[in-house]
Amino acid sequence: MRAIRFDYTNVMSEVVGATHGLSEAELKAMESPSLAALRAVQARRGRDLRWMDLPHQADVCREIQGFATDVRGRFENVCVLGIGGSALGNTALQTALNSPYHNLAPPAGIPRLFVLDNVDPDLVGEFLATIDPAKTIFNAISKSGGTAETMSQFLLFRQALIERLGEDGHKDHLVVTTDAEKGVLREVVGREGYRSFIVPDGVGGRFSVLSAVGLVSSALVGIDIAGLLKGAADMDERCRTETFLENPALVHAAVQYLLHEKKHKPMSITFSYSHRLRDMADWYAQLLAESLGKRKSRKGEDVFRGPTPIRAVGVTDQHSQVQLYTEGPHDKWFTLLAVDEPDHSVTLPAAFPDREGIAYLGGRTLKELFQAERDGTRIALTEAHRPNATISVPKVDPHAVGQLIYLLELSVAIMGEHYDVDAFDQPGVEAGKIAAYALMGRTGYEERRAEIEARVGGALRQV
Ligand code: PA5
Repeated sequence: MRAIRFDYTNVMSEVVGATHGLSEAELKAMESPSLAALRAVQARRGRDLRWMDLPHQADVCREIQGFATDVRGRFENVCVLGIGGSALGNTALQTALNSPYHNLAPPAGIPRLFVLDNVDPDLVGEFLATIDPAKTIFNAISKSGGTAETMSQFLLFRQALIERLGEDGHKDHLVVTTDAEKGVLREVVGREGYRSFIVPDGVGGRFSVLSAVGLVSSALVGIDIAGLLKGAADMDERCRTETFLENPALVHAAVQYLLHEKKHKPMSITFSYSHRLRDMADWYAQLLAESLGKRKSRKGEDVFRGPTPIRAVGVTDQHSQVQLYTEGPHDKWFTLLAVDEPDHSVTLPAAFPDREGIAYLGGRTLKELFQAERDGTRIALTEAHRPNATISVPKVDPHAVGQLIYLLELSVAIMGEHYDVDAFDQPGVEAGKIAAYALMGRTGYEERRAEIEARVGGALRQV
């Protein structure tokens, strides 16, 4: 297998100094808790952590591929209706594995992809006004089957389809991905007979990208989902080892935990030196934030824990954020995403031989320039005593992206053990959802609405 690599040389004290870097002893001290964490997480894989087995669901993969084949050539657009874990992975896979210009010029027979992960009327209204529903298949995704944003979009686009295609005709243009039994969306599927896929039990939103949640839209837009799952399965295999320093998920989780908790670096920056991987950083931001950002420990004590994920893109953000990163507060650590072999080779033409300020670029490639910029940033961070690691992928293909997804998912599950928080719930997200239901007048939320309204009415301070 062409394995992805986690290079943590520059987080060590011998490189960035003892104040900010990790000593051998500090890393070694994580061996025993890491192995305990691995055993604890692995012990739950057949029970409540069913996302761990998603890479091995060959039957689900075949069912989705069959569906994509059946509808091939029928639609110009795929539109995902979903939010959070029901959208970020879809976007990340599209950015990573299709052309950046896919929607401008999709390959013959392959639709464009739009992921509407908001209810901003200017976004959704403009989409309604622009897209012909008759040429579009809508993929409504909601694990709970009740999220207000997704349900609103579902209502809107279902109506637009009915108006354009009639009660019967609209049904082929809607596919639903939701829980097998729970939620209003599943009830609607039962009543209307829409084609549906299942988000299995034990697969939370942010851990669901390798289920039908991420795979249906990916298969529809031509992504090799079997290759993706194979990459994840290979990483699953690799991360079963109990040799601490050979297990990338254990080392990655230990480095994140130590730099945060022992070296006081709550900011975790994913710096993608790859356009294709830039939205993987967005997906990882949710995974890290929602999994570890918790008020309570697993014993129920107030701990208010969690790293703050930040996304940056190289080289673009060298010209906006790197000043802060090299000279600002020592509260950050960095993970660069790097690609060994880009798909394209672009050579710069030689010109202006008498002008050294531009002549040196002639005959060089964009790959050389991009790598020099990336290495330059790594050197600058290191010399400024900023711990930084690099995740390198040989090439951005389905196998590598599958590995990356599984590595980060498992690492975050292990981090949950280190931080001693429940990495699989999201009470803070639910609180916001409940407040929104109350404000929208949903039955059953009257008491919450009354509580919210009782707080309104104080002096308004604004300028
Ligand atoms: O990771 C999570 O659980 C959340 O981000 C959810 O994915 C998000 O709130 C959407 O929920 P649902 O898929 O139930 O509509």
